[in-house]
Amino acid sequence: MNESIAVRMDGITKRFGSVIANDRVSMDIRYSEILSILGENGSGKTTLMNMLAGIYYPDEGFLYVNGKEVTITSPHDAFELGIGMIHQHFKLIDVFTAAENIILGMKGEKRTYNIDEVNQKVKEICDRYGFDIDPKMKVYEMSVAQKQTLEIVKILYRGANILILDEPTAVLTPQETEKLFNILRQMRKDGKAIVLITHKLNEVLELSDRVTILRKGQYITTIPTPVANEQILTEAMVGEKVTLDIERPDPVNPQKRLSVKHLTVVNQERIKALDDVSFDVYSGEILGVAGISGCGQKELLEAIAGLQNIESGGSVEYYDKDGNTKELVGVSPREIRNYGVHLSFVPEDRLGMGLVGSMGMTENMMLKDYDKGRSPFLNRSESSKLADEIKSELDVVTPSIDTPVRKLSGGNVQKVLVGREIAAEPAILMTAYAVRGLDINKSYTIYNLLNEQKKKGVAVIYVGEDLDVLMALSDRILVLCAGHVNGVLDARTASKEEIGLRMTNLVKEEA
Ligand SMILES: Nc1ncnc2c1ncn2[C@@H]1O[C@H](COP(=O)(O)OP(=O)(O)OP(=O)(O)O)[C@@H](O)[C@H]1O
Ligand SMILES: [Mg+2]
Repeated sequence: MNESIAVRMDGITKRFGSVIANDRVSMDIRYSEILSILGENGSGKTTLMNMLAGIYYPDEGFLYVNGKEVTITSPHDAFELGIGMIHQHFKLIDVFTAAENIILGMKGEKRTYNIDEVNQKVKEICDRYGFDIDPKMKVYEMSVAQKQTLEIVKILYRGANILILDEPTAVLTPQETEKLFNILRQMRKDGKAIVLITHKLNEVLELSDRVTILRKGQYITTIPTPVANEQILTEAMVGEKVTLDIERPDPVNPQKRLSVKHLTVVNQERIKALDDVSFDVYSGEILGVAGISGCGQKELLEAIAGLQNIESGGSVEYYDKDGNTKELVGVSPREIRNYGVHLSFVPEDRLGMGLVGSMGMTENMMLKDYDKGRSPFLNRSESSKLADEIKSELDVVTPSIDTPVRKLSGGNVQKVLVGREIAAEPAILMTAYAVRGLDINKSYTIYNLLNEQKKKGVAVIYVGEDLDVLMALSDRILVLCAGHVNGVLDARTASKEEIGLRMTNLVKEEA
């Protein structure tokens, strides 16, 4: 029966100049179903769904919604057809309240609103799905998860029956993710059609009914989730056999690089983010940092990099390769970086950190040199050589190294960010969320790159969300719990249960 088909795409092609983002894609989206869309970075997932949301208009092909052919030329058209999309980058206005954002831009309706009615309807939606939203709260006061909830409430308010979510969990904690999944399951029960774009295969397998795979802009196949597994999905995405093993070479001749002692940091909210933290870091090893979100990982890396105020009594000693010792507390971030202590933090908003969207890869490489105190205009050829290397080594999908980076797909922007940091040849490389938003294949490229750094004798500190990866990649794992070091474990022998326990409960160490 055709009744259950919400959207049919037939031969959809979308080009950006010489790039074919979508190449004659045909697929369907059904009601009462969660459909995952899977594909490597730059495979055309966001572009394809943007055509349903009215952001882009297809160059070729036909769209059918509820069995009727339609043209969608604006987000307003999409809403009229009951289609709503939550984007990779949110589209909310910071200084407005939740309620104002919800009614904002609802064209073709009366200009004035009865705010009580709006609040009442918002409350009904929130009660139905268990959302926790205060209509009077301003967007700038909200956490990432609250903003995302607001985006969902906004499209439900407008009566969406077809919901598209573009990498919604990339910025959520495991607890927030579980909450979102329960909401999506409830929506499926209510008969809605849900499309989930994600790179996390465990989410695909856990949540979706079917999974559609794109590769280099083309439709490859749709697999019912019960017959799928990680290997099948990865191979369909990549188009060839892939090995999903993380290498763990033994550290060679480890030497102490950092000695952190009694580090206490009180953050902007006046909360003790780190409390009397002490540990050592060695060359040629990967030290994984495990902890639930917000337990102090960010502050820890920032404190070492000179970006946090450290309470008196704390110290961070840096041992350079010639055996000299330097105290990093009180030293400027730039000087710490010049010593070779580098921090690469992949933020929730990838363009927010260290990259300029309107510039190409080459110019973004020069920015880093500028940071070192050199003129940005002196070494264009060096920068373009570096940009070329990163492009080929990490397989960055871009028409050229001079294409503005904001035109690259989300994951490709990130490869530029991480690649630039690694290319700087640091002595200590601290990375947080390095694979956020990367497809599984490229995540493994990053793990390999970190291992290469390790083999070169770099001390790597790795903060990541995936415990399995952390356990496979690290030599030692430092567990943080509410700002305390709750054990430093040998990653070769530690069990997942023990790490999990230490992440959530302070374990009393035997003296
Ligand atoms: N506005 C644009 N101008 C030029 N090229 C674009 C534009 N938007 C997307 N592209 C290109 O189209 C291709 C598909 O990009 P898209 O963002 O759809 O990929 P994606 O599958 O969503 O990737 P990711 O997983 O990294 O988010 C990429 O090569 C990208 O560089
Ligand atoms: Mg995308």
